[in-house]
Amino acid sequence: MAVNTRAGRAAVGNRADGVRPPEQGWVVPLSDVRVNDEIERAALEAVRSGWWSMGPRVGELERDFAAFCGVKHAFAVANGTAALHLALLAVGCSPGDDVVVPSLNFVAAANTICHTGAAPVFCDVTAADDLNLDPRDAAQAIGPATRALVVMHYGGHPCRMDEILELARARGIAIVEDAAHAPGATWQRRKCGTFGDVGCFSFFSNKNLPTGEGGMVVTDDDELGEKIRLLRSHGMTTLTWDRHRGHAHSYDVVTHGYNYRLDEIRAAIGSVQLSRLNEDNSRRARLVALYRAALDGVNGIVMPFSPRPETDAAHHLAVIVLPEGCPRDDLRSSMAAAGVQTSVHYPPIHQFTAYGALETKRALPVTDAVASRLLTLPLYPHMSEADVSTVASAVLAGT
Ligand SMILES: Cc1ncc(COP(=O)(O)O)c(C=O)c1O
Repeated sequence: MAVNTRAGRAAVGNRADGVRPPEQGWVVPLSDVRVNDEIERAALEAVRSGWWSMGPRVGELERDFAAFCGVKHAFAVANGTAALHLALLAVGCSPGDDVVVPSLNFVAAANTICHTGAAPVFCDVTAADDLNLDPRDAAQAIGPATRALVVMHYGGHPCRMDEILELARARGIAIVEDAAHAPGATWQRRKCGTFGDVGCFSFFSNKNLPTGEGGMVVTDDDELGEKIRLLRSHGMTTLTWDRHRGHAHSYDVVTHGYNYRLDEIRAAIGSVQLSRLNEDNSRRARLVALYRAALDGVNGIVMPFSPRPETDAAHHLAVIVLPEGCPRDDLRSSMAAAGVQTSVHYPPIHQFTAYGALETKRALPVTDAVASRLLTLPLYPHMSEADVSTVASAVLAGT
């Protein structure tokens, strides 16, 4: 029996939001997790097993995720930020290096670049109707110190990987794919996260494959995989689980690593979520198609990423670009008053205090022009079609 997840609950994963919920709670929250018997059973079995840290359920999730992506190695980690940090370290990012990354992005990539000692160099996005990084601007941003390019599939919409891979080959730099929004998305039938040297996923509560906190790093490269495996757990050559099973009796520490491990309870939930990811992504696609039919081109609104034959999006976000001059805060307040929660993905990273004084500053005209016009609408697989109508009506009433 499915458990009703909406009533009386705050929306999950809403990180930064200045708009207050109505007294009676959201009619349509931005995001919502579905809780049902299968999830509860999986979590309970993991708890009752008595083995809570990294063990057989993590191993199963890694094997299944690797098979799902069609990739050799998958390493479960504590969160998507840890995944990015490990990926950047594995490809060799260190002090003195530059790493090119789009500014229209969650701050995790930029922060983790800084944690490696490298410097982020921000690049622009393509246009109001394509919010992925612009390969031509990325090419301009690459210089002699550039070690890597971090590619983010915005909202689960695959980047133009042919141009990006060509660029990386020509300039001899690594590609780290931030596929936090894109589990299951494909570009020319190949899964996002598997094009670059390393791919990173987030299993945060509002993501397409939510486990609360969690993430995954994938790679086809054995050497990079070995680095990631070691760095994930303190540079130790064996795990507690190996020793528990008698597969190892001691360990060496061969590098200065981290504790970025995932636990068994989240892995058990992750396996259930993975088993329904394709279905959930299809449902997201259907809901986004309804949003597009109701809003794209109406009242000057643009819904970016119209469907392209070479891509199959994961539809993590339903984002619209408001007409120039539309007062976004007023619209958000009027939508909140109607019980509809909204958000903004993202305030560009280069505009944050911590990144304002960067030496590697570049002009980002498209990002600057669209940033104040972005609005994220509610989207989750068990949202109803009537919910989409409620949201679309609230948008149109305020634009
Ligand atoms: C594009 C992107 N990258 C990385 C992350 C970081 O993932 P996590 O929150 O699991 O650390 C997020 C999470 O919101 C994200 O949206």
